Amino acid sequence: MTVVGVVPAGGSGERLGANRPKAFVVLAGRPLLEWSVEVLATVCDRVVVAVPAGYEAGPDRVKGGASRSASVRAALAVAPEAAVAVVHDAARPLLTRDLVERCLLELREGDTDGVIAAAPVTDTIKEADVHGRVLRTLDRSVLWTVQTPQVFRAATLRNALDVGAETLAAATDDASLVEAAGGTIAVVEAPVENLKVTTATDLRLAETLLAWRVPS
Ligand code: C5P
Repeated sequence: MTVVGVVPAGGSGERLGANRPKAFVVLAGRPLLEWSVEVLATVCDRVVVAVPAGYEAGPDRVKGGASRSASVRAALAVAPEAAVAVVHDAARPLLTRDLVERCLLELREGDTDGVIAAAPVTDTIKEADVHGRVLRTLDRSVLWTVQTPQVFRAATLRNALDVGAETLAAATDDASLVEAAGGTIAVVEAPVENLKVTTATDLRLAETLLAWRVPS
């Protein structure tokens, strides 16, 4: 069964305030993107990366789309051999092989259409209106913050991504598109360090966590 890693790395990363796209910002001596691609390559048969226009040089790189999900679709489109897709945001450089393997195992042995890495909510979560007035407090015991990797049978993901550009642009993860197409999803608990680099502070945190890693 061919497992293909799909890495959306086509964002501009404006909130980081760097002089290049986020995936190409240097983190602990190498481009942010390379940290997770290296891990995916130990588990996947092939890793395809969707990059911003002008960054396509190199093997298995495709031009990303106008939205994250459009980038995922573009990358998956060049890997017709994929039976299973492991989608992972370039913005999460602290991916571990163990997390990818646990997601794949759950997909293989469980009965859902997709498996996603997630963390149980530890903060209290409130819903507020546009004026900042609290409407309600949610029951955090059933809430998860969703991350990547997200793994699916490739046919399921292709079908879920076969929607219009507006629907793709509104989706903040792949599982929500699979859910909308009637698919079922399971969560796998991710380690706390699987953080998403959005701001310059996140970048410093990621650098610190990488420095703490025990060399394998
Ligand atoms: O913007 P955000 O941080 O949510 O993006 C998540 C991931 O999607 C990042 O790795 C980013 O590079 C990628 N992305 C993409 N194509 C876009 C927008 C974002 O591949 N058009």
